Amino acid sequence: MAVLVTGGAGFIGSNFVAHLLNAGAGKVVTLDALTYAGNPANLGAFRDDPRHVFVKGSILDTKLVAGLLRRHGITTIVNFAAESHVDRSIRGPESFIETNISGTFRLLEVARAYWRDLPPAARDAFRYLQVSTDEVFGALAPDDQRFDESTAFRPNSPYAASKAAADHLVRAWHETYGLPTLTSNCSNNYGPFQFPEKLIPLVIHKALSGEALPVYGDGQQVRDWLHVEDHCRALSRIIERGKPGETYAVGGDSERTNLDVVRSICALLDRHRPLNGRSYAAQIAFVTDRPGHDRRYAIDAGKLKRELGWSPVESFDTGLEKTVLWYLEHGDWVRDVTSGAYRDWVAEHYA
Ligand code: NAD
Ligand code: TYD
Repeated sequence: MAVLVTGGAGFIGSNFVAHLLNAGAGKVVTLDALTYAGNPANLGAFRDDPRHVFVKGSILDTKLVAGLLRRHGITTIVNFAAESHVDRSIRGPESFIETNISGTFRLLEVARAYWRDLPPAARDAFRYLQVSTDEVFGALAPDDQRFDESTAFRPNSPYAASKAAADHLVRAWHETYGLPTLTSNCSNNYGPFQFPEKLIPLVIHKALSGEALPVYGDGQQVRDWLHVEDHCRALSRIIERGKPGETYAVGGDSERTNLDVVRSICALLDRHRPLNGRSYAAQIAFVTDRPGHDRRYAIDAGKLKRELGWSPVESFDTGLEKTVLWYLEHGDWVRDVTSGAYRDWVAEHYA
């Protein structure tokens, strides 16, 4: 297998590159535009690994991608490349349309041209995996059935709408052209190397910096959390055993309110980095809600479990503790990514 991982210097992509190489992959080519969210240091462990090639560039650059596919004899494309933060999509949606929709379109077209010219056995083995999100399905009420592969798309944020559009393109490229695509729709991930704009690393970072821990609205919104390594194991399983043209819902059976998540992080920090006589929970601050804030996401991953034999290894409690410890041990990484641009965003957004 020779895998092209796009967006492989971001949070999930870099965990996936590590997952592939640690599992003995022969060749992994990482293509990443290195936006504010991409960080080559996330792949530092594989800098001298001859099986890994890092290329700085965009999925919008069709000439570059076509050359990489041919030069490296790529057998599998895994597309993580995206603008991924809901709050940023509300303030500036254009880059989401460009990267998530146009980028996916161009990648599909390059993949199709390459795949069409492969010899028959290589054509049969080729796979394109689109890494998508449960946010395409919209929001659930407290007693609604969880999302699964048959749930209709009802995206509410510009981010979710751009990912939904991309998923539709992927489906059409399979139905119309026969490109062997797979799509995964996963719930909220957490774990090492997540940029501290997302809830869990943001709260850890702000808690340790002595700042307010911003909880949007009443904090009763529910997310279904999955440790990133469990997501990576699911993606490998989907590539190996998934049926072309199918979609797979991925989730950890771990629904939690945001307030519960923030309190759990505070309790772990109280244990592992105690303050003098007070809890980090004293820093919790309720702030203005996100516009169009989805109330609840939850995934029924039954198809992935039944058909492909996957189930998560981490519970939310074990995964969250590992994650808090990772951030405590990697203060340098956090300091490096919280550059000027990040500080400007945080100052503007939480003003
Ligand atoms: P991230 O923002 O951490 O990483 C995205 C990466 O894509 C960055 O390294 C960035 O530099 C790169 N990138 C952006 N534009 C690019 C372009 N034009 N060409 C090449 N690279 C580009 O995001 P993440 O959290 O790792 O998410 C990865 C994928 O998984 C996204 O597609 C996202 O929609 C999906 N997803 C994320 C979650 C989650 O909870 N984080 C859950 C389900 C699905
Ligand atoms: P986030 O990590 O941005 O992921 P997503 O919006 O893709 O689910 O947010 C997770 C939840 O946490 C979401 O309901 C919004 C909420 N949230 C806060 O309450 N405060 C914050 O500062 C952030 C970033 C998110």
